[in-house]
Amino acid sequence: MKIISVVGARPNFMKIAPFINAIRKHNVNTGNEAIEHLLVHTGQHYDERMSKVFFESLGIPEADIHLGIGSGSHAEQVGNTMIAFEKVLREERPDWVVVVGDVNATLACAVTAKKEHIRVCHIEAGLRSGDMDMPEEINRLVTDRLSDLLLTPDRLSNENLRKEGVPEEKIRFVGNIMIDTLEANRQKAAALDVGTIIRDNLLESRTELPDKVESFSILTMHRPSNVDRKEVLEPIIDFLLDEVCAREVLIWPIHPRTRKQLERFGLWDRVTAEPNLILLHPVNYYEMLKLNMEANTMLTDSGGLQEECCVLGTPCMTLRWNTERPITLREHGGASILVGNAVDKIRRAYKELSQSTRKPQRPELWDGQTAQRCLDALLEAQG
Ligand code: UD1
Repeated sequence: MKIISVVGARPNFMKIAPFINAIRKHNVNTGNEAIEHLLVHTGQHYDERMSKVFFESLGIPEADIHLGIGSGSHAEQVGNTMIAFEKVLREERPDWVVVVGDVNATLACAVTAKKEHIRVCHIEAGLRSGDMDMPEEINRLVTDRLSDLLLTPDRLSNENLRKEGVPEEKIRFVGNIMIDTLEANRQKAAALDVGTIIRDNLLESRTELPDKVESFSILTMHRPSNVDRKEVLEPIIDFLLDEVCAREVLIWPIHPRTRKQLERFGLWDRVTAEPNLILLHPVNYYEMLKLNMEANTMLTDSGGLQEECCVLGTPCMTLRWNTERPITLREHGGASILVGNAVDKIRRAYKELSQSTRKPQRPELWDGQTAQRCLDALLEAQG
């Protein structure tokens, strides 16, 4: 069997790492029936800190093929990826293309493979936010509609797919593959030192640091719905500076898109002037895991961090009005509250969660063994 797996953007890397390991193990154990595997990186994320450091820290082999797509409008990213990936598929003719998550690379490569009559397997299928303003929701819907094998992280996702009429035999509940990566790296992350993480990743623009950082919360924010409009972003920044940083240190590993927007809206100087706000470059996987393990609370609009907070028990404010990952919410036993981007709601949740303690949860099959189940499902589907 020949498989091409695709990665493009940061959240893909922690999902593909365990899958590649499962293939390696399979090949060591089976000899003759070895799987031929090629890794394609579309290049949607290209900064060293958004891409290369994850390959290095997670032991992902260098991509066999790099499409070098880079940034651009969604149509440019998807279109350019399709043109380049079609050439790869015509040359390589794999039996399966495996895509993960919901980024533009996921969509582009699923569509291209289907048009080349190559079977598509989607890892992390069935998540739905119901919010068609989110580019990721469009990516999820189209990818799942085209996929031949849909591997889901939870039973709610199976239900979503059933409601859309996906035939039962295409769906397999395998658990959350990202938690494989969390479990494999937990100990290594725990051994890190927060002070060292801060020093190693500090943005040059900051001059002074609090003497000791023992108690802190974390912020990550990059969704267009939060950072692309000044009238939304500015009140959030006001709240963070005036109310969160008045109480505690806030560590913010900042996404390149968010930094650009803060500069564009004239907010960058205010943000860099706040002594209790520690601005970092994007951090690597272990560093983020360690910060998450130690944080008082997490404020985030990331999908993956909601899930990691659930397993680590970190009280989490999800800066979105909806989530495709409802299993991470407190009403489903998780650690997160949806707070959108309205400051009064964020303030209320922040007050409540600042008092609460860690409650680690383990949804069904988030057990660190999902990658093997993904590969087993693929082998079974191949027949
Ligand atoms: C993408 C994913 C999003 C995911 C996020 C994680 C889509 C539609 N969105 O959003 O689901 O949560 O990745 O980071 O696929 N940039 C750089 N260097 C890089 C990458 C991006 O400077 O290495 C800047 C560029 O200005 C670029 C902007 O960030 O235009 C946005 O990058 P893009 O890949 O379009 O989307 P993300 O916001 O990163």
